[in-house]
Amino acid sequence: MKKLTPILFVVCSLIFLATACSTSNSHLIETPIPAREDGQTDVVGLTTEPLDTVRVGFIGLGMRGPGAVERFTYIPGTKIVALCDVEPARVEACQEILRRRNLPQAAAYSGSEDAWKALCERDDIDLVYVVTDWKNHAQMGIYAMEHGKHVAIEVPAAMTMDEIWALINTAEKTRKHCMQLENCVYDFFELTTLNMAQKGLFGEVLHVEGSYIHNLEDFWPYYWNNWRMDYNRKHRGDVYPTHGLGPACQLLDIHRGDKMNYLVAMDTKAVNGPAYIERTTGEKVTDFQNGDHTLTLIRTENGKTIHIQHNVMTPRPYSRMYQLTGTDGFANKYPIQQYCLRPSQVSSDEIPNHENLNAHGAVSNEVREALMLKYKHPIHQELEEIAKKVGGHGGMDFIMDYRLVYCLRNGLPLDMDVYDLAEWCCLPELTALSIENNSAPVAIPDFTRGAWNRIQGYRHAFAE
Ligand SMILES: NC(=O)c1ccc[n+]([C@@H]2O[C@H](COP(=O)([O-])OP(=O)(O)OC[C@H]3O[C@@H](n4cnc5c(N)ncnc54)[C@H](O)[C@@H]3O)[C@@H](O)[C@H]2O)c1
Repeated sequence: MKKLTPILFVVCSLIFLATACSTSNSHLIETPIPAREDGQTDVVGLTTEPLDTVRVGFIGLGMRGPGAVERFTYIPGTKIVALCDVEPARVEACQEILRRRNLPQAAAYSGSEDAWKALCERDDIDLVYVVTDWKNHAQMGIYAMEHGKHVAIEVPAAMTMDEIWALINTAEKTRKHCMQLENCVYDFFELTTLNMAQKGLFGEVLHVEGSYIHNLEDFWPYYWNNWRMDYNRKHRGDVYPTHGLGPACQLLDIHRGDKMNYLVAMDTKAVNGPAYIERTTGEKVTDFQNGDHTLTLIRTENGKTIHIQHNVMTPRPYSRMYQLTGTDGFANKYPIQQYCLRPSQVSSDEIPNHENLNAHGAVSNEVREALMLKYKHPIHQELEEIAKKVGGHGGMDFIMDYRLVYCLRNGLPLDMDVYDLAEWCCLPELTALSIENNSAPVAIPDFTRGAWNRIQGYRHAFAE
């Protein structure tokens, strides 16, 4: 056999290397990233003209919506201008909230599935607040921004990659805020722990966990037109990831110095979903898609990991998990609140019984309480009292709404931008892709399209 010449040898080696690389990359399933149109730029750190009064219109007044209307009646600098739901009685029930709070009646939109469009078209509204079923969220957000409104959308704000990119492109073109109403990032343990993490108590945060584990058996009959069970029936994957992923991403500074690169997902078979349908309707279901328990692992650019779980089907205590592993400490919210810290991470005059701290056991309740008091987040220092009075998941819902209004009134970047929305909402489609391909890795796009590293560290904005 003829020997390879040196040049041919080099060419062959390069071809071999190139083939090897593309083979290893080909294991990663990628989804299309649409190109930005000419002249369109990102909205990282977006600020808009301060608003003296935030005039709001609500769409979707089912189980969740009326609570939002009520909370807004307690927020200074707001005016409830319009209310919309397909069901007229639901609009009327919210007018009653306004009457009870001695506020003027709002303009009512009802009676058809398109009535919400006229609400978005009004010229006396600054913010459209969307609390409908998942399938309506993105189209309503897009239409509202196209009609010059900021938009706040309940979780998950988008269910598909197409919807996510459409929301991003609309926000970038219109320069309007598009915030997802993720309330759990404002819960007391989460925000206190975020503050501790930002102050370096846990060292470098390496791994975070979150979940939505909530048996919805008692709630299924009350969703409008059965939308939620229908969605689970038709879709595999983690269809409700944001309560777990939101706090996790804030701890890891996602698109503020790090980015999620890829995920792998796996689910159990579907048992209790189809059994529920058969038990309540007699229908024998053979096409139920959503597994009773779905698990997702994510790896970031900076070598961090995230574990997210979803289970709305089996009897289990409620849990959002919320767990953090750092080089110098650990935090855990469910089933019990715990911290574990190297003694060197806090000084002895800050907490009681410092000599009992160690790096392999949880701190005592007394120490945990002292730490939580010392590291109470400035947002809680300001709002804890009124938030607990107004309520909504123990106060976090009120804090979410208050912060949204506060930032709009002060012309500050919102606590959550359209890229947070995208990152936290990409799991429904991307986990389904992974699961349907034997848990193959699926790329998570850089939704900022190049700006993920411009801001260093996640921070809430405050007026001077
Ligand atoms: N953040 C949280 O803690 C939390 C808690 C509960 C629900 N949610 C979210 O809130 C949203 C609503 O959930 P829910 O439990 O209130 O559901 P729901 O079924 O009780 O209410 C949905 C409402 O939307 C209305 N609607 C549907 N299509 C409409 C249209 N075209 N125009 C106007 N109104 C329309 C329905 O009539 C219904 O009143 C969901 O996205 C859910 O995931 C979030």
